[in-house]
Amino acid sequence: MPKESKKNQEPSGPFGDMFPYRESFETFHELPSKGRPPEEVMRKLRKIAHQEDARWQTGQISGTYFHGGMEHYAFLNRVFALFSHVNLLHRDMCPSGTKFEGEIIAMTARMLGAELAREQDPQADVCGAITSGGTESVILPMLAYREKGRAERGITAPEMVVPETIHPAFSKGAHFFGIKLIRVPVGADYLANVDAMRRAIGPNTIAIAGSAANFPHGLIDPIEKLSELALETGVGLHVDSCFGGFILPWIAKLGYDVPAFDFRLPGVTSMSCDTHKWAYGLKGASVVLYRNRALRRHMYFTMNDWQGGLYAAPTVAGTRSEGIVASTWAAMVTLGEEGYLKATRRIMKAADTIKSGIAKIPELKIIGKPTYCIGITSDKVDIRHVNDFLVERGWRLNGLQRPAGFHMCVTLLQTIPGLAARFVRDIAAGVEYARNPPATPARSGAMYAGSASSLDPSMVDELMMAYLDASTDLP
Ligand SMILES: Cc1ncc(COP(=O)(O)O)c(C=O)c1O
Repeated sequence: MPKESKKNQEPSGPFGDMFPYRESFETFHELPSKGRPPEEVMRKLRKIAHQEDARWQTGQISGTYFHGGMEHYAFLNRVFALFSHVNLLHRDMCPSGTKFEGEIIAMTARMLGAELAREQDPQADVCGAITSGGTESVILPMLAYREKGRAERGITAPEMVVPETIHPAFSKGAHFFGIKLIRVPVGADYLANVDAMRRAIGPNTIAIAGSAANFPHGLIDPIEKLSELALETGVGLHVDSCFGGFILPWIAKLGYDVPAFDFRLPGVTSMSCDTHKWAYGLKGASVVLYRNRALRRHMYFTMNDWQGGLYAAPTVAGTRSEGIVASTWAAMVTLGEEGYLKATRRIMKAADTIKSGIAKIPELKIIGKPTYCIGITSDKVDIRHVNDFLVERGWRLNGLQRPAGFHMCVTLLQTIPGLAARFVRDIAAGVEYARNPPATPARSGAMYAGSASSLDPSMVDELMMAYLDASTDLP
C-alpha cells in the first residue's frame, strides 16, 4: 500500500513554518491509490482558502492583492470557468481569444498614449502581446532588443543600461539572454541619473530602461529625459510600468502631478504594464507593448521544420488557458474608466492620509515624492525596529535596503474606513519603540515578496536558494 501521508517532526525551519498543514491535512508524497471524493477535497480546500484569505482581508498588507473585493473575484472566476479549458495556442478553435487579447492590448495601448504617438509620428503603430506577468513583459523586449541589435547593428555582446532601482526581472532577463546589464546608481533624489546613464552607453548598448513607477520607492524615473537620451543615442527605451501603468493615468486624471511616461514621448519604444495589478484582473497576465510591429517581430519564435508541424508562439508559453485573458478582459470592460477612476480616488485618499501622517513624525523620512507606493526610511532610529513593531501589530510591509526601510503600496484594501489612520498611529508607536529598542538586533530584513532575518551578506544568496527549495520541497 502506498504511503498516503507522513507527519513531519520538524514544525518550523529557518523561514518559519513553510508547511503548516502537515497536522490538519493529509500530505501526499505520491498519488493516492484511489481518488478522493471531490466534495471532501473541496471542503478541505475551502478551509485552507478561507484561512489564508482572512490574513490579507484585514487590509494590513502592502500591495499584493490590489482589489480584494470577493464579489469582483467571484465574477472573474465565473468568467474564467467559461474558458478555463480552452488552449489559446489553437486560434482556429477559439477566435474569442483573438478578440479578448486584441481588445486588452488596444485598450491598454490607448490608455498609454498610443493615439497621440500615432498623431505625432506616422511610423508609430503601437502593438503588443499578452504575457504571464510583469517578468515576462520585461524580459521579452530585452530579447527583442538583442535580436534587433544583432540583425541591424551586428552586436554580439549586447548591453542594456538601467537605473539600479529597476526591477530584478531585468537582471533575470539579462541572465537568460546573455545580455550585460549595467545598473547605474540613482541620484540623491532616488531617480534614474540620466547623465550617468548617458556615460554608460556604448557601441554595444541595445536599449536603456526606466520605471514608472519603480517597485522599491514607487517613484517615476525622468522618462522624458530618458526618451531624449534614447533618441540622441539611437537605442531603444523600455518603460517598465508593470507597477504603475494601470494606475498612474488615473492618478494624473485626478489632478496629481504625474509626468508623461508613455508612448506620448517619442523615444519610448516598448512598455510593460500588468493587468494582474491595478487593472484588477486575476493573477497571471500582463501586457507588453511595442511602438511598432517591426520591433515586436524580434520577440516572436517560429519553427518551420519540426515533425509536429509548423510552430509559432509570440511569447514564452506554448499552451495557455483562455480563462486568464477572458477574465482580464471582463475586469477591464466591467470597470471601465469610471471604475478605475473611482478606485484610484479612494486609493489616493488613503495614500494622502498616510503621507501627511508620516510627514508629521520627525524621525521618519518619505523617500522622494511618491504617489500610491510610499517608501519610508529614517536616519534617526533603526527603521527595522519600527518594522518589527509593525509586524507584531499584524502589518506586512515590503522591506527595502540601501537605504534600509519599508514601503506601503496602498491598494483598495487600505481604503477600509479608519485603516490608513490606524497605520499612521501604529507607525508612530513603532518609532517610540525603536527609540528604546530591546538589546537584540532587529528581526526585519529586506526580502522581496517575503521577509527574512538580517543576515551576513555572504550568506544571502545561499539562503535565498534554500528558501526556494523550501517553497516546493515536502517536509
Ligand atoms: C516595477 C515592476 N516591474 C516588474 C515586476 C514583475 O512583475 P511580476 O511579479 O508580475 O512578474 C514588478 C512586480 O512587482 C514591478 O513592481
